[in-house]
Amino acid sequence: MKSNIGINKNRLIKSIEEMAQIGATAKGGVNRQALTDLDKVSRDLFIKWCKNENLKITIDKMGNIFARRQGKNNNLPPILSGSHLDTQPTGGKYDGALGVLSALEVIRSLNDIKYITEAPLEIVVWTNEEGCRFPPAMTGSAVFSGQYNLNDALLIEDLDGKTLGEELSRIKYNGKTNCRPRKIGAFIETHIEQGPILEIADKSIGVVVGSQAQKWYEVNIVGMEAHAGPTPMNKRKDALVGASNIVLLVNSIGNKFQPGGCSTCGVLNIKSPSRNVIPGECFLTIDFRHPSDQRLKEMDKNLRLEIKKIANNYNLKISIKQILELKSKSFNKKVRKTIEKVSSNLELPHQEIISGAGHDAVNINDIAPTGMIFIPCVDGISHNETEKALKKDISAGAQVLLHSMIELADNTK
Ligand code: GLV
Ligand code: MN
Ligand code: MN
Repeated sequence: MKSNIGINKNRLIKSIEEMAQIGATAKGGVNRQALTDLDKVSRDLFIKWCKNENLKITIDKMGNIFARRQGKNNNLPPILSGSHLDTQPTGGKYDGALGVLSALEVIRSLNDIKYITEAPLEIVVWTNEEGCRFPPAMTGSAVFSGQYNLNDALLIEDLDGKTLGEELSRIKYNGKTNCRPRKIGAFIETHIEQGPILEIADKSIGVVVGSQAQKWYEVNIVGMEAHAGPTPMNKRKDALVGASNIVLLVNSIGNKFQPGGCSTCGVLNIKSPSRNVIPGECFLTIDFRHPSDQRLKEMDKNLRLEIKKIANNYNLKISIKQILELKSKSFNKKVRKTIEKVSSNLELPHQEIISGAGHDAVNINDIAPTGMIFIPCVDGISHNETEKALKKDISAGAQVLLHSMIELADNTK
C-alpha cells in the first residue's frame, strides 16, 4: 500500500455539505427525488466538479453518468466507484451522495499528487436508485447490467403519470451512449450502513460480503364504495378493511420469519377518500427481505395464501403484482479481500457485514467483480432527514476506497 497517499477529509465533508444544500429540508435532510429539477442541479454540480478534475463525462440512455480518469494503460478495463444522487422524500445527506463524493475525493486526491494508476478510473452516478418516484429501485444499474429492459424502464410512470424517459429528456440527461454491460475491472460502492451493527460493534468499516434477497409487490384491493350511514356492517365491501388486514399480515410475516425477515408496507392509498364513504378501492406496496432466498420464497407463499383468505373474508377482489425480485448476493472475493487488507493496513477497526439495503452494487455484481465499503451511521438511522455519519468514519471510508481503488487499478490484468 502507498502509505504516503491520503484523502482530504475537509474537502470531502465540504462537498457533501454543498451537495446536501440541493433539496435541503427544514429538518436537516434532503428531498431530491429522481429526475426532478433538483436531481438535475445535483448532476450539474457533480459534472462541474468532475470537469475541474479533467474527467471525461459520458451519459448513457438511462442517464447514468460516468466520469473517466485515464490510466497508464487505457486498454485495461476501468475500476469504477460511485453510487447515486437521488434521495427518498425523507432522505438524508449521505445515502448515495457519500458514495459518489467519496469516489470524487479519491480522484481529487490522486490529481493533487499526479498519481496515475495503471488502469483507468471512473466515477459513476446511477439513475433512480431509490425507486420512490419511479418504482422499482435501482433501475439505472439494472438496465446497465442487463437485468431490466431499457424501454420498459423509460416507460415507468410516477404518480402524476410522467414517465422516467420523459423526465430524463426534460432535465436533459437522456444520454447517447448505449446502456449495457461492458468490461469493468471492478466496482466498489461506499455507503452508510443504514442499520446499527457497525456502530454497536464500534467499527469504522464494514467489509460487505453480500446482500439479502428482496421482493417488492403492488397490491390492489377492490371492494365497493357505499354510504357510511345506511349500509349495514354485514353488507360492506370495505377495501380499507382488507388493506388494514394486509398491513397486519405483512408485519406478522416479517416477525414470523426471524431471524432475518423484514416486511414493510410503505405506501397505502385510498382511491377518492371521503369520510362518509366506505372505501371502494385501495392500493398498497409491500417490501419483503430475507438473507435466505428459500425463506423469502416461503414468505411469498405465506403472503399469497393469507391474502386469498382476506379476500374471501371481506368479499374483496385482491390482485398482487411482484415488481422487483433480487436474489441474495455474495460479493467478489478479490474485491472483499482488497477492502479487508486495506482496512487492516490502515489500522481501521472493521468487520464483515451483510447489506440489509439494496444497492446498485448488487446489480453490478452480476457483470463485474464488485464490493462495498460500509461506514456506520448514527443510531443506524437512514431514509430519514436526521441521517448522520461521523467525520472520522466518512474519512475512514474514503481512505479505504482510495487505497482499494489504487490496489485494484495497479494490479488488474
Ligand atoms: C434502497 O434504498 C433500498 O430499498 O434498499
Ligand atoms: Mn443508497
Ligand atoms: Mn436509499
